[in-house]
Amino acid sequence: MTFRILIVDDEKNIRSGLSRAMEMDGYLVSQAEDGQEALKMMLKMEIDLIIADLRMPKLSGEELLKKVVSSYPTVPVIILTGHGTVDNAVQAMRNGAYDFLTKPVNLDRLGLLVKRALGRRELARKHQELEAEISRLEKQKSGSEILGKSAPMHRVFELIEQVAPTRASVLITGESGTGKELVANALHARSPRNDASLVKVHCAALSESLLESELFGHEKGAFTGAAGQRKGRFELADGGTIFLDEIGEIDKSTQLKILRVLQEKSFERVGGEKTLTVDVRIITATNRNLKEEVEKGRFREDLYYRLNVVNIHLPALRERPEDIPLLAARFLKETAEENGRDVQGLEPKAAMALGSYRWPGNVRELRNVVESAVVLSKDSFITPEDLPPHITQRSEEDGIRIPLGVSMSEAERIIIRANLNALGGNKSRTSEILGIGRKTLHRKIHEYGMASEFLKNSGDEGVSS
Ligand SMILES: Nc1ncnc2c1ncn2[C@@H]1O[C@H](COP(=O)(O)OP(=O)(O)OP(=O)(O)O)[C@@H](O)[C@H]1O
Ligand SMILES: [Mg+2]
Repeated sequence: MTFRILIVDDEKNIRSGLSRAMEMDGYLVSQAEDGQEALKMMLKMEIDLIIADLRMPKLSGEELLKKVVSSYPTVPVIILTGHGTVDNAVQAMRNGAYDFLTKPVNLDRLGLLVKRALGRRELARKHQELEAEISRLEKQKSGSEILGKSAPMHRVFELIEQVAPTRASVLITGESGTGKELVANALHARSPRNDASLVKVHCAALSESLLESELFGHEKGAFTGAAGQRKGRFELADGGTIFLDEIGEIDKSTQLKILRVLQEKSFERVGGEKTLTVDVRIITATNRNLKEEVEKGRFREDLYYRLNVVNIHLPALRERPEDIPLLAARFLKETAEENGRDVQGLEPKAAMALGSYRWPGNVRELRNVVESAVVLSKDSFITPEDLPPHITQRSEEDGIRIPLGVSMSEAERIIIRANLNALGGNKSRTSEILGIGRKTLHRKIHEYGMASEFLKNSGDEGVSS
């Protein structure tokens, strides 16, 4: 890479002398008579270094320096000064000059200074590039890919912020497809361990013995087929994070070994004698009710408490219908791009159908439904005909009619009222069927102005709103 040096001096002889010297050192050179001309030239071309006299007409070296320091902070300025004005040069150093030389200029010294200053500029430039890269990565890993504006999701975001930087074990719970793996990613990415690995193990996919050697590694000949020594996932995660997905599926003997890693940070490879020590943060996930597994004696209670230092629970999608439009829009944009389709959005009727469906497969199911609709759509807006029948025909089968063009909350009001009526006002059953908490149901009954109809004798349920 060739650097361009700008020489600023009102004395023509000095300018051309310095220019020749710099050109002989292999640099490109531009010249300016004073500070003003120098600034004009800097607008036109990229200058890597400035050599400037202090005393010049129009814009002095001092003033030029100030402008350069504030507008081009990575461009080094070398100041030239006559005898007797060294004080001014020292002042210039304080104001951000790279260095100064007294006239007559020692060209060898100048050559050295220029070389060093340009080296520093390169570093500064690399640093800037790195910083841009880091801030880009930080934006990526900030968990911003987890979308949600509902209150329960806000709580999830808060918890992630709060526990990510710690070493605490986190148990992530929630139905299938609610985003447990995304949360595990975010926890690692926002932790100080993020320059080491996040190692993921899908515990349900491996048989008992395979899982143990997967987790802890094995020595040569530990079992038939163990041809060589192999490192386990805990070793690979040293300094980082291990994510044990579907932790509820592991057998008792593996549970005991994991407990030991948590308590003593050590383990042995399968078939090995040597005790290995690791520093690993453990994140686990399950869609089972682990507490219940403990009660049934299928999961070690001591391990449960060690894993569940912090619990992040992801609510089912049907418990946060206000996230559905947001997620649907994101998935629509993503899958339209991926499939090269020009789909702009959802027709109101289609959006309504998505909003009232139960989503047993949660966010994953929503993504799949949106993707298939995007692929099937003949128009730039998705119609109910593009959606699977079990999503659009449900309310008609149940005998609820939701008119076209009503808002999401109006649709919700219609659904809640119809279900309450059909179930004789039984709020427990209704909340169960709608997949919302009883408190939520009570709140909505109030919100939609149906309290006088349905909440008169609510004392029996012991729920206050
Ligand atoms: N809040 C969210 N914002 C954006 N995408 C999400 C969100 N939640 C889930 N997803 C997407 O839904 C899909 C399922 O998420 P993920 O794999 O994290 O679920 P899970 O809870 O681990 O499910 P399982 O229990 O079946 O393993 C992924 O494609 C994920 O990117
Ligand atoms: Mg998962």
